[in-house]
Amino acid sequence: MITLKVNGKEHQVDVEKDMPILWVVRDILGLTGTKFGCGVAQCGACMVHLDGDGVRSCITPVSRAIGKEIVTIEGLESSLSVPLQKAWVEHDVPQCGYCQSGQIMAAAILLREKSIPDDQDINSAMSANLCRCGTYQRIRSAIHTAAQLRNSQG
Ligand code: FES
Repeated sequence: MITLKVNGKEHQVDVEKDMPILWVVRDILGLTGTKFGCGVAQCGACMVHLDGDGVRSCITPVSRAIGKEIVTIEGLESSLSVPLQKAWVEHDVPQCGYCQSGQIMAAAILLREKSIPDDQDINSAMSANLCRCGTYQRIRSAIHTAAQLRNSQG
């Protein structure tokens, strides 16, 4: 049994220590917001936060999360998730939608670190998150809007 903290709650899970975090959160805990994309840490669709850092959950063994906190898109703090969701809707960002959970988790880290990111900050923070539909321009615009919304929350 492994004790894991996920989205603020402790869970006991009976899994091998080398099982990727992705399968623990999706298949064991039923948190299906995190997506399987490439399976080899190349696309970013599976990004979760581990003690605040973005990790590729498809290749990160659950043993790395022992004593830390995993946050999936379902548990993203509302000061980030609300402005990001509003901005994503306003800019009609997703096309197929497959990459978008990972895009939002990457954008959340950027906004936590930089309250007013410029285009270069966004390009650099988001460069490892691939979108096969090419929604990059809308993602960039939505991050600018999310930053404004977040800053106006006070
Ligand atoms: Fe389809 Fe990004 S919206 S992969």
